[in-house]
Amino acid sequence: MMRSRGFAVHSFVFWVLLMGVPALGQEQQKHLQSERISGSAGDVLEDDPVGRLKVFIYELPSKYNKKILAKDPRCLTHMFATEIFMHRFLLSSPVRTLNPEEADWFYTPVYTTCDLTPNGLPLPFKSPRMMRSAIQYISTNWPYWNRTEGADHFFVVPHDFGACFHYQEEKAIERGILPLLQRATLVQTFGQRYHVCLKEGSITVPPYAPPQKMQAHLIPPSTPRSIFVYFRGLFYDVGNDPEGGYYARGARASVWENFKDNPLFDISTEHPATYYEDMQRAVFCLCPLGWAPWSPRLVEGVIFGCIPVIIADDIVLPFADAIPWEEIGVFVEEKDVPRLDSILTSIPPEVILRKQRLLANPAMKQAMLFPQPAQPGDAFHQILNGLARKLPHDSGVYLKQNQKLLNWTAGPVGDLKPW
Ligand SMILES: *[C@@H]1O[C@H](CO)[C@@H](O)[C@H](O)[C@H]1NC(C)=O
Ligand SMILES: *[C@@H]1O[C@H](CO)[C@@H](O)[C@H](O)[C@H]1NC(C)=O
Repeated sequence: MMRSRGFAVHSFVFWVLLMGVPALGQEQQKHLQSERISGSAGDVLEDDPVGRLKVFIYELPSKYNKKILAKDPRCLTHMFATEIFMHRFLLSSPVRTLNPEEADWFYTPVYTTCDLTPNGLPLPFKSPRMMRSAIQYISTNWPYWNRTEGADHFFVVPHDFGACFHYQEEKAIERGILPLLQRATLVQTFGQRYHVCLKEGSITVPPYAPPQKMQAHLIPPSTPRSIFVYFRGLFYDVGNDPEGGYYARGARASVWENFKDNPLFDISTEHPATYYEDMQRAVFCLCPLGWAPWSPRLVEGVIFGCIPVIIADDIVLPFADAIPWEEIGVFVEEKDVPRLDSILTSIPPEVILRKQRLLANPAMKQAMLFPQPAQPGDAFHQILNGLARKLPHDSGVYLKQNQKLLNWTAGPVGDLKPW
């Protein structure tokens, strides 16, 4: 078990920095909390999607969704649960249309990540066959798929590497995006520039984090942030990585090796029961890449007002067109991890306070969550905004008579087997 030494404040500068907000008078604090963060700098882009798009939901046999969920209700709480909640949300959303002729977007409710190991890890091995089968079903029962070969269809594919359907990056890259989805819009958690598993026009969303559970762990916002840097998670993954466990392109190992004895760093593999509370007592929360560039820490950082320190080169963050990540987070290049201490300690207190203030904006938190029932400005809302911004469809998406662009037999032979 790894555990760094307890946190101790050594310099006056840190003391001021950490105690800055709680040390303010009540009036000032109130002012800080109610201050409207004005202009586009720092605010969440607020659009109302209702009236700007119409979505038709295909009715699929329950073996593609409800039956799978009934077999394993744990699918409702893991970080890929977005695919289920998005379905439920759309069924009662005002953007839904029952008339496919007037739809701008078509949605196929297929739960591809709800195949869990006994330990609760989602396995994507059956996903390609299942997805092919669902597309076969909609393309034979309705005329809309063939019209565009999916270019006006969107799919929620929240797995590690989206529609590449593998949890190991090398394998995911080798597979590439499922050929049948190459014209569709993908709503996915995976986001990294210049990567075969992120195609242009995809919508990157936050991973699912349970809103009620997080809510239940809130502590008074005036609690001092007495931890400078906080992180809980693996540094090495010896079990899954044959090369000494140096996964995450070595970034996590580097965090541990450089800062395990640094008193400013409260880092450990141990996941305490007070994890959520601890994040509310911390100034910075590390969000290094793992097997994929993203993790739920990003959402947790925003919800708990802990400035996310994003260590994942070329990451594409959720709703990057609506959320000012540069303003609320700190970006550290993977190669600069050994300098993490000096990078973070040299950030001026007023910059830290500004980031904390932006994080306190309820709109920011709302955009990271998939609450039930849905709420204005939540992540569902942001997804609809993303889809609305892609309208109207280019006339080029509609194929000519008998034109075919997709190859139904491309891809690994194993994927072609019936599901
Ligand atoms: C769509 O195209 C496929 C493959 O060409 C065909 O089998 C199917 O019947 C077509 N669907 C409709 C509704 O015409
Ligand atoms: C479709 O893909 C298969 C498998 O890669 C290939 O053999 C076939 O030639 C392709 N068909 C077309 C029309 O490109």
